Amino acid sequence: MTIDWWTAVRFLHIIGAILWIGGQLTFAFVVTPGLRSVEADPERVRASQVAVARRFGNVISYVGIPLQLGTGLALSWRVYDLGKDTIPDYGFWLGLKIVLFLGAIVLAAVHGIMASRGASARSRRVADSGLVISLGILLIAVTLGGG
Ligand code: HEM
Repeated sequence: MTIDWWTAVRFLHIIGAILWIGGQLTFAFVVTPGLRSVEADPERVRASQVAVARRFGNVISYVGIPLQLGTGLALSWRVYDLGKDTIPDYGFWLGLKIVLFLGAIVLAAVHGIMASRGASARSRRVADSGLVISLGILLIAVTLGGG
């Protein structure tokens, strides 16, 4: 077993994945129901959601995205260095993962703009689509890394 700088890069990449996907799941399944259980007024629930979402958005924008992109690009260079690009379809799935990552960022930004203008079913659908895409990215990542 080798522990080197690449172990650290991979570790940080997985921390980024936890932050990104874990944050979305925690918001949907823990924070929102928790707020609803202690506050009956939907407007006050929404105000708290907006405050939490804004904070999460800042963490993702200033830490999550740069971390994921930086470590992801480094890992891409590394896997081609290791000759993994000769694995059939590897390049296609890695490319799809990057495209989906960019799509998830666009959806998160669109959702943020829509949500700041008021709650709507459409804004919620955009957020749900972003979560599904993020889970798809994770599935592709696990398949790419699989042994
Ligand atoms: C939300 C976005 C992302 C998530 C959740 C994510 C998640 C992951 C996870 C969990 C792994 C480890 C897989 C394993 O070892 O089993 C991984 C590996 C990797 N990721 Fe990402 N990633 C994301 C974005 C990116 C981006 C933007 C890039 C490229 C620019 C990238 C490139 C890679 C590469 C090359 C590997 C190594 C795959 C291998 O070992 O063959 N990732 N990713």
